[in-house]
Amino acid sequence: MIRLTDVRKAFNQGRENEFWALKGIDLSVEAGKVTVFRGPSGSGKTTLLTLVGCLARPTSGRVRLKDRDISGLPERFLTDIRRSTFGFVFQQFNLLKGITAIENVMIPAYPLGIDRTELSRRAHALLERLDIAPKARSNAEWLSGGEAQRVAIARALINDPEVVIADEPTANLDSERSKQFLDIVETLKESGKTVLMTSHDPLVCETAVVDRVVSLRDGQLVERGG
Ligand SMILES: Nc1ncnc2c1ncn2[C@@H]1O[C@H](COP(=O)(O)OP(=O)(O)OP(=O)(O)O)[C@@H](O)[C@H]1O
Ligand SMILES: [Mg+2]
Repeated sequence: MIRLTDVRKAFNQGRENEFWALKGIDLSVEAGKVTVFRGPSGSGKTTLLTLVGCLARPTSGRVRLKDRDISGLPERFLTDIRRSTFGFVFQQFNLLKGITAIENVMIPAYPLGIDRTELSRRAHALLERLDIAPKARSNAEWLSGGEAQRVAIARALINDPEVVIADEPTANLDSERSKQFLDIVETLKESGKTVLMTSHDPLVCETAVVDRVVSLRDGQLVERGG
């Protein structure tokens, strides 16, 4: 499904603060599986997810999605691929302030031109499933960390993406809510979706729904990707 070949990523390349966040990653991710990336803070987990999800390009190496090399594609193609393939839960949520929770959930669907009533129904159903429906009309900036995280999860699912990418999706959730999230992951997997996430949480790493845990250290994989 997704294959990375000798992927490297530098920040501030050529400057004195040049930093190689990823130093040669070889990894294949199978469709329909749940993969968790773990490793110390700064080991490159978020950077890796942004490359896999077409949010950024590698400095060198190749990223293939369904046998198509996407590392060299122009931005407008990447935007299309992102929209049609991935749903993201960002580590910092990235909810838009000044608009409500439910509007945040619906935003990724606007370019698809779905009927407004149908979209709102779908967004509500997701908020219900994440136990956050009572906050649908709250502005994003009024939400607690755990509430914002659940809204961010709902937003990632609104377009029913093939691949869900979630960066520390349970970092702000209590164990009850984390289990709820893992139930959703299980449902996603049952419906054939691919899930990639990062987590420090043993509850997440050790849960039965996870097919594979990949460890990163200093921008390299500890487990060689199969
Ligand atoms: N835009 C950037 N410019 C410069 N350095 C960056 C940039 N983004 C990330 N880095 C650096 O790359 C390294 C890897 O960052 P990354 O966010 O991938 O780590 P992480 O494994 O997700 O850590 P955490 O567990 O804290 O979320 C860090 O040392 C970080 O400071
Ligand atoms: Mg991170």
